[in-house]
Amino acid sequence: MNKLHHFIELLGEPYFKNEWIAIYNLDCRQGLQKIIDNNLGVDCTLTSPPYNIGKEYEKVLSTSEYIDWLSEISNLVYETTAQNGCYLLNLGYLSIENSARALPITYLIWDKIKFYLNQEIVWNYGAGVACKNYLSPRNEKILWYVKNCDEYTFNLDAIRDPDVKYPNSKKNGKLRTNTLGKNPSDVWQIAKVTTGANRSSQERTKHPAQFPEDLVSRMILGFTNENDIILEPFLGSGTTAMVAMKNKRYCIAFEINGNYCELSKNRIEQYLSEMKYENRSLFDG
Ligand SMILES: C[S@@+](CC[C@H](N)C(=O)[O-])C[C@H]1O[C@@H](n2cnc3c(N)ncnc32)[C@H](O)[C@@H]1O
Repeated sequence: MNKLHHFIELLGEPYFKNEWIAIYNLDCRQGLQKIIDNNLGVDCTLTSPPYNIGKEYEKVLSTSEYIDWLSEISNLVYETTAQNGCYLLNLGYLSIENSARALPITYLIWDKIKFYLNQEIVWNYGAGVACKNYLSPRNEKILWYVKNCDEYTFNLDAIRDPDVKYPNSKKNGKLRTNTLGKNPSDVWQIAKVTTGANRSSQERTKHPAQFPEDLVSRMILGFTNENDIILEPFLGSGTTAMVAMKNKRYCIAFEINGNYCELSKNRIEQYLSEMKYENRSLFDG
């Protein structure tokens, strides 16, 4: 029995499953509580929750209610996380009437979560909303939390940046830079999933807030190991599950909206059938 089967045995039959993924059509608070009640542990939670900005999948709350809700979920995540595990929380901006226009949500929440905050990663993207009265926002944040600040997974070689300006530069006869590339730093330039007639990304689905696969890949390769269990409490279009599977990690996912569960299922099945049609193995890249 693999690790995922053990989870399924205790959590119950999912909406969709395969060898690497189990998707539950469930409010994540219920799902997280089930994981805790069954004494199961996950290695990493990687997610982007609703930002309380009125997208089609959310009901807008007052700012304090929203922060309480997100803290409650994050602290349930803490309870489900194994001793050396991590929590990767992607957040954008919200506005507060008469107080702030583009307030990074990280300012409101970072210290309300039990984990140790290891680092903030800035995700910088080129395209987005063009603003007239203020600067067009071109970044979101990822809070990289760990449970144990002395022991956590960090696979630097797996995410080195090969774009080195002087790769042959030497000091005392030794190459200055690692041959795999340089440390990718805490600013990651990765394109957003775009919409529009002429500029729509290839990976685009009908979900309005989709993660780019490259962003999720870098987090998964850098902060988890093969065969780890990754938890995604807000699955949306299925990106975290897809990328986990492509990188030999298991994924347990929750999504409250049945249509998005179906979208994720179809996306995963279509990818696997294309692989089969092209006679390629899942892990060919
Ligand atoms: C920002 S989107 C995530 C998008 C995702 N990163 C992707 O790549 O498609 C947030 C998702 O959380 C779902 N959601 C909202 N509240 C939820 C809850 N309490 N439990 C589970 N899912 C929820 C929404 O339906 C929405 O699909």
